[in-house]
Amino acid sequence: MEYANGVLQATTPEAKSEAAFAAVAASAASAPMGDFLQIPPIRPKRPDSPALVPPSAVPRRRFGSTHGRAALLHAIAHIEFNAIDLAFDMAARFAGEVERLELDASAFMGDWFEVGGDEARHFGLISNRLADLGSSYGAFPAHDGLWEAAEATTDNLLARLAVAPLILEARGLDVTPSMANRLRGSGDPDSAEILDIIYRDEIGHVACGNRWFSRICQIHAYNPVATFHSLKARYFAGMLKPPFNHEARDKAGLPRAYYEPN
Ligand SMILES: [Fe+2]
Ligand SMILES: [Fe+2]
Repeated sequence: MEYANGVLQATTPEAKSEAAFAAVAASAASAPMGDFLQIPPIRPKRPDSPALVPPSAVPRRRFGSTHGRAALLHAIAHIEFNAIDLAFDMAARFAGEVERLELDASAFMGDWFEVGGDEARHFGLISNRLADLGSSYGAFPAHDGLWEAAEATTDNLLARLAVAPLILEARGLDVTPSMANRLRGSGDPDSAEILDIIYRDEIGHVACGNRWFSRICQIHAYNPVATFHSLKARYFAGMLKPPFNHEARDKAGLPRAYYEPN
């Protein structure tokens, strides 16, 4: 629990990533434990930049120019940065509830630590690539949609699982391959390769969310499909937009009844 809080309380991307890797190493060495009733603050620490602005004020992500590609990679860096916090917030905030449900809270924490470690690695890959392009994380404004979605679900584990891995990360599976192809087409295979790595890892993150969502529904004797749809209606403002990447979603074990028909 201390390791998770160490990540959430780290301000700079470097410190947050280091704390994430330390957490993963510690949980690999011995099963996570702690006072699972300690709830982390609603907002983890973050650096002063990027400035957070409304989505309409975030620069367009164009593939044709170096600046446009930097804007695209910056948006991805911001997602990965938030994803580090989201994973450790999942672990720290909800392990107590998992324990109360008599599920394995230690395995729950270990799973989300591992996801958080992946996110820190993704952030590192993208921020190194931003540096190659003469930019850096913080150079563009970004929007706060991801953390707003997290805040809306701080009191509901099933809603957090539905919105973060099963809706938002699954959406990443739909859009990432075409983004990688467009980067390749615009002569930037190095960035495309990083997106390929992220894409493969994210299938595992959706699978992890799906496993815990199913287990928790099962213990409550909830119908998972009906539960997913009612949580989506209550906690997610947008629509689930096709086309869906069935291959990746199937690999993650995500039931089609969760997302189609809409
Ligand atoms: Fe990621
Ligand atoms: Fe992820």
